[in-house]
Amino acid sequence: MSMLKTIASLIYLLSAVCYVIGVHMMRSPKTARKGNLLSGLGMAMAVVMILVEIIAKGTITTIGWAVLFAGLLIGILYGVIKARKVPMTDVPQLVSLFNAVGGGAAATIGIFDYTNEAVGTSLSLAFSIPVLLDIIIGGITFSGSLIATGKLSGHVSGKPIAFPGDKLLNGIAVFAIIIAGVWMIGFPSAYWPMILALCASLIFGLLMTLPIGGADMPVVVSLLNAFTGLAVAFAGFVIDNQVLIIAGALVGAAGTILTLQMAEAMNRSVANIIAGGFGGGESSTGGAGDDVPVNVKKTSPDDVGMQLAYAHNVMIVPGYGLAAAQAQHEVAELAKLLTDADINVNYAIHPVAGRMPGHMNVLLADVNVPYDQMKQLDEANSMFENTDISLVIGANDVTNPLAREKGNAISGMPILDVDKSKSVVVIKRSMSTGYAGVQNPLFSEDQTSMMFADAKKGLQEIIAATKGYLE
Ligand code: TAP
Repeated sequence: MSMLKTIASLIYLLSAVCYVIGVHMMRSPKTARKGNLLSGLGMAMAVVMILVEIIAKGTITTIGWAVLFAGLLIGILYGVIKARKVPMTDVPQLVSLFNAVGGGAAATIGIFDYTNEAVGTSLSLAFSIPVLLDIIIGGITFSGSLIATGKLSGHVSGKPIAFPGDKLLNGIAVFAIIIAGVWMIGFPSAYWPMILALCASLIFGLLMTLPIGGADMPVVVSLLNAFTGLAVAFAGFVIDNQVLIIAGALVGAAGTILTLQMAEAMNRSVANIIAGGFGGGESSTGGAGDDVPVNVKKTSPDDVGMQLAYAHNVMIVPGYGLAAAQAQHEVAELAKLLTDADINVNYAIHPVAGRMPGHMNVLLADVNVPYDQMKQLDEANSMFENTDISLVIGANDVTNPLAREKGNAISGMPILDVDKSKSVVVIKRSMSTGYAGVQNPLFSEDQTSMMFADAKKGLQEIIAATKGYLE
């Protein structure tokens, strides 16, 4: 048995090493796929080792095995099918759903251990504190992530939802969590403090997420992801499993760093986002509208093809619309056409372009865009002044100069300075606003022309026209 324990510890250590190296490899699109595989391998090793340990203990009944394998099968099938089928644009809500499942699973472990071992006995703090935190953080993550999933998928209104007395209810939920926690630790004699802690945490998770809307949602999903990691780490303490502690701590740390980076990219502090949410959330200025104002210049694929063919430096600025139109193949084809004709082509990547972290990097890497052409925010901004033509494809908020001014929903958000390039062509279908609901004055600036088209179709027409000019 002790031999098995030693082997198990070594396997868990090895899986932890796989996670750490895997996460490190995810820092670059070049190595991200391999990093993902390596982390998956680490997880598979840990799962197999846990099964071996369960068999060796011999305490599980036949029904227990049936339940365990049914759960494993459902989880694997759902995960594989969903991950293979999900369109890129729906990944944020899938991540959010996985957060909910992770938080719910961690809370369930806490509930199980408390009810099985704790009620009526005296608890050591080393046991009771992780159980309590597991239930609270798991509960908050579960309900908060379900609401976030609903908001991102459109099943719940994406607008901030507030109602009279919501702040008071929040205060009561926090108070109830504190009372229940003190009771659970000090007097572990009844179920009710655990039930109270769980219900109050679920309510708090709901009330934390409902009032948050608009462009803040990705930050909240990332924050809830960090919470999932913490809940899982505490679950590891509860059942004394090192691999859960390490994996949970990694997710918690990575989620926290990502949350801070995204908040920075939107020029909002995390506290401000949460507090803003409690205060009714962010409001959008301006609104969607399809009427084209007279001062907006329209252009055609033929004209864009001619401009591109005679340019020296071209910057492609991809945004959510490129992903929605699945136009990444066309954009790569156009770029190749131009580079083959000795025209410099680069891509300006904004950290929150699209609908998930790294969205544009993933899309472009998928169609083998050379990594050295993908310029991140600061580098891209240093290049616009020498850019002959910026081709903005389905991007809106990340190019909106209003972010440099005060008093609107994107004030202070760092943007791509496309308006500094000599000429700007924007491909989108209408004058509609982007995610933040703010009108974009870039569209009516002197150097800008609008090509109203679906990104995929529009690019196909531009490719045909450019070929004509390059021949
Ligand atoms: P957005 O500001 O959302 O603008 C996208 C534009 O694409 C829209 O104005 C839309 O205009 C156009 N579009 C949609 N479908 C199209 C199609 N088939 N063909 C051509 N154009 C199409 O996108 P962005 O500039 O990438 O900025 C991202 C925004 O999302 C930011 O506000 C960010 O904070 C937020 N956000 C980011 C994330 C992450 S982590 N990346 C997650 C959630 C939210 P038309 O309808 O006129 O075509």
